[in-house]
Amino acid sequence: MTIHDLTAFPAGFRWGAATAAYQIEGGAGEGGRGASIWDTFSHTPGLVLNGDNGDIAVDHYHRWPADLDLMVELGIKHYRLSLSWPRLQPTGAGELNPEGVAFYRDLLDGMRARGIEPLVTLYHWDLPQALEDEGGWANRDTAYRFAEYASRVIAELGLLATDWITINEPWCISFLGYGYGVHAPGKRNTRLAVAAAHHVNLAHGLALAAIRLINPALRVSNSNLVTDIVPATDSDDDAAAVLRLDAMNNRIFLDPVYHGSYSAAVHELFDEYGLAELIHDGDLELIGAPVDFMGLNHYQRVVVSASEDGGYLKLTETPAEPATTSFGWSVEPDSLRSVLRRISSEFTTLPIYVTENGASYDDYADPNGSVNDWPRVEYFSGYLAAAAEAIREGVNLQGYYAWSFLDNFEWAEGYSKRFGLVYVDYPTQKRIPKQSALWYRQLIADHEDAT
Ligand code: NOJ
Repeated sequence: MTIHDLTAFPAGFRWGAATAAYQIEGGAGEGGRGASIWDTFSHTPGLVLNGDNGDIAVDHYHRWPADLDLMVELGIKHYRLSLSWPRLQPTGAGELNPEGVAFYRDLLDGMRARGIEPLVTLYHWDLPQALEDEGGWANRDTAYRFAEYASRVIAELGLLATDWITINEPWCISFLGYGYGVHAPGKRNTRLAVAAAHHVNLAHGLALAAIRLINPALRVSNSNLVTDIVPATDSDDDAAAVLRLDAMNNRIFLDPVYHGSYSAAVHELFDEYGLAELIHDGDLELIGAPVDFMGLNHYQRVVVSASEDGGYLKLTETPAEPATTSFGWSVEPDSLRSVLRRISSEFTTLPIYVTENGASYDDYADPNGSVNDWPRVEYFSGYLAAAAEAIREGVNLQGYYAWSFLDNFEWAEGYSKRFGLVYVDYPTQKRIPKQSALWYRQLIADHEDAT
């Protein structure tokens, strides 16, 4: 499968892959790392499929040199990784842990030595448990703790990367973690979710200011999951349902960062859960301070219809029955084009990086030891063709990080969902590049030739 329009991607386009610390590192009890909410959550029986946890994960903590070598072999020169907050600051306060700093210094040096450009996420969901014990993201103080952590990290490691992401997917942190309870810390309370949402936004703003103070040359933003939400029918009720879900999934995070305020739709939905009172003087200026790029995580389109009791949202399968991934997520490449166009017209014309896009399938190694993940190749080529179209239409897209470099711990789904370009045989930790990785290598080389 080829993308016919490779020249749409500008010269210097970043072809990358992404991971996150808790999902790959393991080394949970090593190097002075503190406990995170994901340690607690995954060790609580019944919360993660098959009782899986990230204690060992794919053992990247010990295997990182070979993993980076493999990245080089696969032609991937841009790598988005995250730092584990509890590895760097075990209780979420005070001095950084020297062993944690040394680990990431070696890792970032190792990338530089191999010609791999880092995009570093400061927070990808592993909140120090000590901070959760004080209320976690529902407690405003956590935003200040995060800014302090960020400034300590930038003071130590800030010269080893130019591009930084403060926080990954605020929606999952606040709504999956504090509203629906399917992610750590497993709370089910809309008030807490709304508080978490504002505090995560505030944490981004405070960290941004702290980073600017230390090194204004760094490029900083956050990564948002932006889902394409479409109505099931052209009824007014379904249109209203779309607006509500969009306010909850997308606007509550995009509006304050890119417009400096929460929109009326967001207030309408969440003031009854305390949103207006959470906002202190000066918060929106901090959150809305200019960023340097837009980090977009995109996976799927969802179709929405209003439920009969009014208000309550029901998500339905797409009527057209598109292909789905093993997660049951729709495969409709045009959703990426539509989200990119929307960001450009409604939110920002800054450079956009797709900081995550990918699909899970039930991959396995065949008797010859190869992993033939053709559906994933089709997924990537479809979404990249849609991205090419968006670029042709004027969208300022400058990079794409496939999720994920390696199969890994998929949160509440444990190891049952494989997203990697590289297959991991968990019992032996053997890495096998899938067909999609070989396809991606070729695409990167072809693009280099074409531009
Ligand atoms: C978004 C998250 O950032 C990442 O951690 C997760 O594995 C992927 N989506 C797939 O669900």
